Amino acid sequence: MLVLGIESSCDETGVALYDSLRGLLGHAIYSQIDMHEAYGGVVPELASRDHIRRLIPLLDQVLSITGVDKKQIDAIAYTAGPGLAGALLVGASFAESLGLALNVPTMPVHHLEGHLLSPLLAADAPTFPFVALLVSGGHTQLMRVSGVGKYELLGETLDDAAGEAFDKTAKLLGLGYPGGPAIARLAAKGIAGCYKLPRPMLRSGDLDFSFSGLKTAVLTVVRDHELNETERHDLAAEFQEAVTEVLVAKALAAVERCGFDQLVVAGGVGANLRLRERLNAAAARRGIRVHYPPLDLCTDNGAMIAYCGAQRLLAESAGQTTHAFCVRPRW
Ligand code: KG4
Ligand code: ZN
Repeated sequence: MLVLGIESSCDETGVALYDSLRGLLGHAIYSQIDMHEAYGGVVPELASRDHIRRLIPLLDQVLSITGVDKKQIDAIAYTAGPGLAGALLVGASFAESLGLALNVPTMPVHHLEGHLLSPLLAADAPTFPFVALLVSGGHTQLMRVSGVGKYELLGETLDDAAGEAFDKTAKLLGLGYPGGPAIARLAAKGIAGCYKLPRPMLRSGDLDFSFSGLKTAVLTVVRDHELNETERHDLAAEFQEAVTEVLVAKALAAVERCGFDQLVVAGGVGANLRLRERLNAAAARRGIRVHYPPLDLCTDNGAMIAYCGAQRLLAESAGQTTHAFCVRPRW
């Protein structure tokens, strides 16, 4: 089954072709980061308008690099939520219109399920069951994953998501958007431990998280001191260390609680190299394998949506054929 995947939930337009027998044939992403950077965050109306501009050229690009003809497409999967309402509507109306024109079924996909299954696109893919740590700009969740569609929430953030904490802290340190990579770059030149930040809920005994207090602790330091360059580096390093330490401890506790030996990490924060370093080391000591999506599929992309849609279509047999649609921004 040849599935076209469309992603447009936030500030990346992604298009991909996944074949259930041959794997990922090709994908293309257009990131709007440069456009939103001047505003310090994503401007929803600008995001929607840009998705409109990018979708057809990206589809043409993917068809041309894969040598596929539109008429060979068997089904179309698209992100139906959660995300920005206008941005989602662009992808959904594009996908459903194309589905109508080509007379093929469509499959609305949950964006987080796309992230969750994305490590299965890696060469050395995990097998079910596993625990998934989902760390994106909007979510921080631990899931027990027994199969496609078989997910049990083990714990989640009670306030800010990990990526959101990176983004908000980056703003406090005068860094641009998106904050995660900016903090990581600053942290690489700093020393963790020079400042002491809390490790929220590290010993709470459950698998929930809380990151808003960490951001407030950074605010207190920034407000009370005029930081020089070295101090900014050290503060960024300590912040990254604090988030990382809590994520590592809780993720491994979740794997042990389930009695599994595989952990999957997905979502934008999963691109953080310090998180990977600490997680790999701690997991190796416990005999746990950690799986990540290929690096170019860590942030938003169409490949994970095409893959997830294909799995759902194979499991549920039929897709949607009415081509009526609605999006679910808070799904
Ligand atoms: O999964 P994603 O691309 O979009 C959402 O679904 O939210 O995740 C975006 C988030 C942003 O908060 C961004 O700052 C964070 O992932 N991020 C990182 C890194 N790269 C992206 N956070 C920490 N370190 C990184 N290297
Ligand atoms: Zn995402």
